[in-house]
Amino acid sequence: MSELEGKTALVTGGASGIGLAAATLFAAEGAEVFITGRRQSELDAAAASIGATAIRGDISDLDDLDAIAARIGASAGRLDVLFANAGGGDMLAPITELRPDSFDYVFGTNVRGTVFTVQKMLPLMPDGSSIVVTGSTSASRGNPGFGTYSASKAAVRQFARIWAAELAPRSIRVNVLVPGPTDTPGLRSIAGDEVFVPALLSQMAATTPLRRVADPAEIAQAALFLASARSSFMTGSQLFADGGEVQVFPAA
Ligand SMILES: NC(=O)c1ccc[n+]([C@@H]2O[C@H](COP(=O)([O-])OP(=O)(O)OC[C@H]3O[C@@H](n4cnc5c(N)ncnc54)[C@H](OP(=O)(O)O)[C@@H]3O)[C@@H](O)[C@H]2O)c1
Repeated sequence: MSELEGKTALVTGGASGIGLAAATLFAAEGAEVFITGRRQSELDAAAASIGATAIRGDISDLDDLDAIAARIGASAGRLDVLFANAGGGDMLAPITELRPDSFDYVFGTNVRGTVFTVQKMLPLMPDGSSIVVTGSTSASRGNPGFGTYSASKAAVRQFARIWAAELAPRSIRVNVLVPGPTDTPGLRSIAGDEVFVPALLSQMAATTPLRRVADPAEIAQAALFLASARSSFMTGSQLFADGGEVQVFPAA
């Protein structure tokens, strides 16, 4: 039996990387899938390949979130799975060089955007539904230069714990999926230039006990587990799909 038969799912950031892989898997498992992102052309291409519905929107814009909720409400009437995955980083900077606009961008997307994605979608979510938020191993480490991104992911991890408590009376589960380094356009963009991508991936692979970066499809399997009834007794938790990065080599 398909894991998400009869369910409706929203994957934010569903046109690229981890979100695209998850949206593809959720659809293959029987869900009616909605994907969002800021770039219309990428969204349309992804939606066509998945068989999903694309809704353009920036998660840091509350009007966009209202419009996304309205579209899903009008079309499906409910949302059983919310994968609040959209996010990313900006320039790496130590505290001495951190710029306010960079801080605002990362926190505006990863924290404010995720928080209000959840708030705006909740009215569509019936009792027993599942919220999955994308965290990061960086939230458990002390890598220089990663302060803003790392702290933003630590913030959503803590929000998820609180939401799990607040929504437990409705049996709405909230969990954090923590990917290790995963080969996505977002990760590759850290290299700055295509020629530096192989070196970046090798360097990332060296920080994981499995000595490789993940394929987004592997992270999607963990997202499916948290989204589906397979994880029915998990809430407020973090699932590390990190190749052992943090679980085997914890920060000192
Ligand atoms: N790849 C990794 O190694 C890794 C590891 C740990 C955690 N993560 C997390 O995993 C999630 C997915 O990242 P990824 O690696 O798959 O990166 P990606 O390939 O860059 O995908 C990110 C997606 O999020 C969307 N997005 C970004 N900002 C948005 C905004 N303000 N509003 C709406 N959509 C937005 C992007 O679409 P548009 O640009 O079109 O808006 C894109 O579809 C992120 O939260 C990231 O922090 C990634």
